[in-house]
Amino acid sequence: MKVLVIGGGAREHALCRSLSLDPDVTALHCAPGNAGIAEVAQVHPVDALDGAAVAELATSLRADLVVVGPEAPLVAGVADVLRERGIPVFGPSAEAALLEGSKAFAKDVMAAANVPTARSYVCTTPAEIDAALDAFGAPYVVKDDGLAAGKGVVVTADLAAAREHALSCGRVVIEEFLDGPEVSLFAITDGETVVPLQPAQDFKRALDGDEGPNTGGMGAYSPLPWADPGLVDEVLRTVLQPTVDELRRRGTPFSGLLYAGLAITSRGVRVIEFNARFGDPETQVVLARLKTPLASVLLNAATGNLAAEPPLRWSEGAAVTVVVASHNYPGTPRTGDVIEGLAQAAEVERAYVLHAGTALDADGRVVSAGGRVLSVTATGDDLADARAQAYEALSRIRLDGSHHRTDIAEKAAASA
Ligand code: AMP
Ligand code: GLY
Repeated sequence: MKVLVIGGGAREHALCRSLSLDPDVTALHCAPGNAGIAEVAQVHPVDALDGAAVAELATSLRADLVVVGPEAPLVAGVADVLRERGIPVFGPSAEAALLEGSKAFAKDVMAAANVPTARSYVCTTPAEIDAALDAFGAPYVVKDDGLAAGKGVVVTADLAAAREHALSCGRVVIEEFLDGPEVSLFAITDGETVVPLQPAQDFKRALDGDEGPNTGGMGAYSPLPWADPGLVDEVLRTVLQPTVDELRRRGTPFSGLLYAGLAITSRGVRVIEFNARFGDPETQVVLARLKTPLASVLLNAATGNLAAEPPLRWSEGAAVTVVVASHNYPGTPRTGDVIEGLAQAAEVERAYVLHAGTALDADGRVVSAGGRVLSVTATGDDLADARAQAYEALSRIRLDGSHHRTDIAEKAAASA
């Protein structure tokens, strides 16, 4: 099978790595890719947001499957262009991807499907904003309605800051604060059959101890030793299947990866957000534990044959990933710094480095090219083991001005 992956982050590097290990995959391509992906796939300098260009590339490569990684091309309708041309694509249509692209749309779908989520108001005027902030009280949760790469959400006890953020958004969702640990649960679906993956936990805040601003994600681990063993079945029954059924009922079936961001509150599981694609960095740890070869699962989802897929197989062990971010991320990140020690990091047993924002400079050196630069990933017999390998590999990498969290999976490893 010839596979083309669209995107160029650590998530796409993880997807490409798994696909490159799948004996069914005879050719692997990625557009645009990055310096690390170029080691496992042939990369093509094609704009991921340009549906016609992506379709032309897929046709010229005779790709049997296109896997769209990030949300922006999905929301821009890249999967629709591919489907119209008869090319099997893993990733939802633009209309179904609105589940991620519009928080107000997601709330509407959840209400219709009876999916548990935070109570919320969609506001467009200062008066509505003040009324909603007043109705819920502190801590305030204020979300830009549109895509914002994980940075459109402000959670604060400061009314003035909440109000300021709300006024800066065109349309804004203001909602009830959900207390309790967060879980990311992904499901692969063909629009009808829903196959959940293993849960993971992401660390959204920039600094240790969940301090600092929200980011796209600074690290992740799987499994979750503290979670109820019935969690996946419960979320499948109360969240994932009803959402997929509701979108099919509306005539906009969701085919691809449905990501449920959940809060485990004292009153039960609540959806914090949906995404329409694999999460980054959770994908790095979930795929590290998946033993079933990936390509045929994604192709079966793309072609409506997921019901025929045998149950997925998982490793009993654990996986941890730690993100190395560039100077000043999540503000305006500094780029162009040389990354050293990648070969030494790769020598750590059961650890590997997935590239996010990296590029090769004119001298062939790997340099930083984005906010999140690397995702240092390791597997282990348990979380403590995986964590030790990941941090050992990370300690061998040098990137001037970079920062990372030192507490990824720390509490969970201690509780296991
Ligand atoms: P989102 O982009 O919707 O995932 O929000 C980013 C982060 O903000 C989440 O991972 C949570 O940590 C936090 N957050 C979002 N919504 C809520 C909520 N209703 N209550 C508490 N925290 C929230
Ligand atoms: N890790 C959060 C996300 O992918 O949205």
